[in-house]
Amino acid sequence: MTILVTGGAGFIGSNFVLEWLAHSDEPVVNLDKLTYAGNLENLRAAQVNPAHLFVHGDIGDRTLVQQLLDKQAPRAIVHFAAESHVDRSIHGPREFIDTNVLGTFNLLEETRAFLRKIGDAAREAFRFVHVSTDEVYGSLAPGDAPFRETSPYSPNSPYAASKAASDHLARAYRETYGVPTIITNCSNNYGPYQFPEKLIPLVILNAISGKPLPVYGDGGNVRDWLFVQDHCAALRLVLARGRPGETYNVGGASERTNLDVVKAVCALLDEAKPNRKKDHAELISFVADRPGHDRRYAIDAAKISRELGWRPAESFESGLRKTVAWYLDNPEWVAHVVSGAYRGWIDKNYGKRGPA
Ligand code: NAD
Ligand code: TYD
Repeated sequence: MTILVTGGAGFIGSNFVLEWLAHSDEPVVNLDKLTYAGNLENLRAAQVNPAHLFVHGDIGDRTLVQQLLDKQAPRAIVHFAAESHVDRSIHGPREFIDTNVLGTFNLLEETRAFLRKIGDAAREAFRFVHVSTDEVYGSLAPGDAPFRETSPYSPNSPYAASKAASDHLARAYRETYGVPTIITNCSNNYGPYQFPEKLIPLVILNAISGKPLPVYGDGGNVRDWLFVQDHCAALRLVLARGRPGETYNVGGASERTNLDVVKAVCALLDEAKPNRKKDHAELISFVADRPGHDRRYAIDAAKISRELGWRPAESFESGLRKTVAWYLDNPEWVAHVVSGAYRGWIDKNYGKRGPA
């Protein structure tokens, strides 16, 4: 038995792979293109683990995916691979369509072909978990009820639109071809190994080096924050007991304005580095707003709680404290990400040929 993870060198995928190996003896095959967001240093702890096989490649490479499925015969796919940053999607949406829409389409097509080749029992047990986002539901007003699995799709950024398209494909492949897809839509993740283009790691790293902390617009936009390990626990449950054809919303029950998030990071850094002369919050700098900036996201996670017994273990305060501590305790990872040296990791550790 083995599972195939896509995008397992990224933020959430690498956390998932590391935790999978800690919780289970079942091997994991990890297919990742290693874009700027893929970092094999995230997987350093798994590098010599024979239960982890890293494969450098694109989910859009039809031959590669077909051969990988035939050779590894996984019992499940957990699909993380994506372009994931809203701001990048505003400046250059093309790659979002290529990977999130066409790449997912390719993966579903090859999964459909693979399922035709295996026995009834294996096909019955197979699962395709499609990891998606609450951003497909659009923006909420202050008093609106949180997103439920039945909320209408209303994506506002090219990123959200590309994820919405991939969700629709995942759903259609179940309805039309019987591919046993399960969709998860989660809120903003934070925690170890997040690339510092996203709000929380960006603010931590800028604050440590005394740089301005950019807050878009009035800082009043609200996100729900989910600690990445809570998300990974939810995904393991969905994989084990989720029902094909269903969607599960996953959230941290932690709505905060961006300004409150930035201030909370600053307060933790003030505490951890008490010798800094000024308060870190003095670095806050209000900048031009993001075009099409969704005002509020909020998740109703009652379904996954009721059906699978999942609840977040971390509050925003406890999760943020762990996250700030992780960035302070891992200066080498931070330095390699900031300098770009993490991209040399493949040559250094696997030779010029790259991993298998
Ligand atoms: P990330 O950007 O940190 O990592 C994405 C990974 O996918 C990288 O390792 C990258 O190299 C890989 N990748 C990109 N294109 C690929 C391709 N064509 N073929 C193979 N690999 C490819 O993203 P993340 O934050 O870890 O997000 C993982 C998933 O979770 C995404 O699908 C994202 O939409 C979803 N999600 C993320 C968040 C969040 O807060 N980070 C919230 C909701 C949903
Ligand atoms: P981000 O981490 O990019 O996630 P997403 O856009 O997927 O929600 O941004 C989180 C929120 O923080 C979002 O409302 C935009 C805002 N933001 C800033 O105010 N400043 C920043 O420098 C960044 C990166 C984001």
